[in-house]
Amino acid sequence: MAAKLMQAVQYSSYGGGPSGLKHVEIPVPTPKTNEVLLKLEAASINPVDWKIQKGDLRAIFMPRKFPHTPCTDVAGEVLEVGPQVKDFKVGDKVLAKLTHQYGGGLAEFAVASESLTAARPSEVSAAEAAGLPIAGLTARDALTEIGGIKLDGTGEQKNVLVTAASGGVGVYAVQLAKLGNNHVTATCGARNIDFVKSLGADEVLDYKTPEGVALKSPSGRKYDAVIHCTTGIPWSTFDPNLAEKGVVVDLTPGPSSMFTFALKKLTFSKKRLVPFIVNVKREGMEHLAQLVKDGKLKTIIDSKFPLSKAEDAWAKSIDGHATGKIIVEP
Ligand SMILES: NC(=O)c1ccc[n+]([C@@H]2O[C@H](COP(=O)([O-])OP(=O)(O)OC[C@H]3O[C@@H](n4cnc5c(N)ncnc54)[C@H](OP(=O)(O)O)[C@@H]3O)[C@@H](O)[C@H]2O)c1
Repeated sequence: MAAKLMQAVQYSSYGGGPSGLKHVEIPVPTPKTNEVLLKLEAASINPVDWKIQKGDLRAIFMPRKFPHTPCTDVAGEVLEVGPQVKDFKVGDKVLAKLTHQYGGGLAEFAVASESLTAARPSEVSAAEAAGLPIAGLTARDALTEIGGIKLDGTGEQKNVLVTAASGGVGVYAVQLAKLGNNHVTATCGARNIDFVKSLGADEVLDYKTPEGVALKSPSGRKYDAVIHCTTGIPWSTFDPNLAEKGVVVDLTPGPSSMFTFALKKLTFSKKRLVPFIVNVKREGMEHLAQLVKDGKLKTIIDSKFPLSKAEDAWAKSIDGHATGKIIVEP
């Protein structure tokens, strides 16, 4: 019997940006024993998706083969379950994190591992859920695991700096840090200052002004944790702004931050820089989906594109000026 076909968007080699994406018809995937087949309702784009296409991340993430269907953060409905799947049944609404190796998000259907699939409360839309896996969990885990920040308000109040607070990760980081009653300083462009304040940030610096470049807290606070979502800020800028045991969590580690990380370790420095790569787990997706359901966390949607215009969504993400998440809907 001929396989059922679906619309998908793929690239066939490294490079090419938005014009490297092609609309194709390919077979609907079949779930393996521990997988679920999802009818996708939304996928979100993360910078890692197009960085993989550029070939920049070959050392850590690469497509298993070309052509590759990119994007990993999805939400949809379970259509079929593999024989060993215990926690989901046909008709369940879910969010899922696909693997960078296999991708699959820019399509009408995708298979997800049961262990990286989470139930989606009916109050949480597919687009809101699709924003959560990489961006939401990077913010959550960078704050809690490296930054030592509590999100439930039980810890002592800490001073947190979030750079690029208007981006996909930053909007979650500001909200989550505030959930824990911390004092949040944020950087963003002038057009987003009021918006970032509305997310709860206590102080907001325009990153193009001298104060923003210096990352200096207007109230003179020293940062206990920095969730650093941009590139190009040297250690010498962070150093004078950090508390005695302050830590910079670097989400885009390059050679100079790896050098600083090693140097701080070797010299037993109390101030640290820690490179961080998120490891999305089901528990984390469930936690964040619950916070969205409870009205404690919002997914900010920059824009939505139909699958037929996925290359425009891709271009917008590469452009680097999204406010929140870019969503593609089949
Ligand atoms: N390590 C990990 O596991 C991990 C996970 C997720 C993301 N990341 C990385 O973290 C970075 C941020 O990801 P994202 O999804 O948040 O990106 P994004 O959504 O594309 O970020 C766009 C936002 O960043 C702002 N921005 C750009 N340069 C800035 C600067 N110098 N200072 C302040 N704001 C600035 C832009 O504001 P304007 O429009 O006003 O310029 C825009 O609102 C990316 O490099 C991504 O690859 C790493």
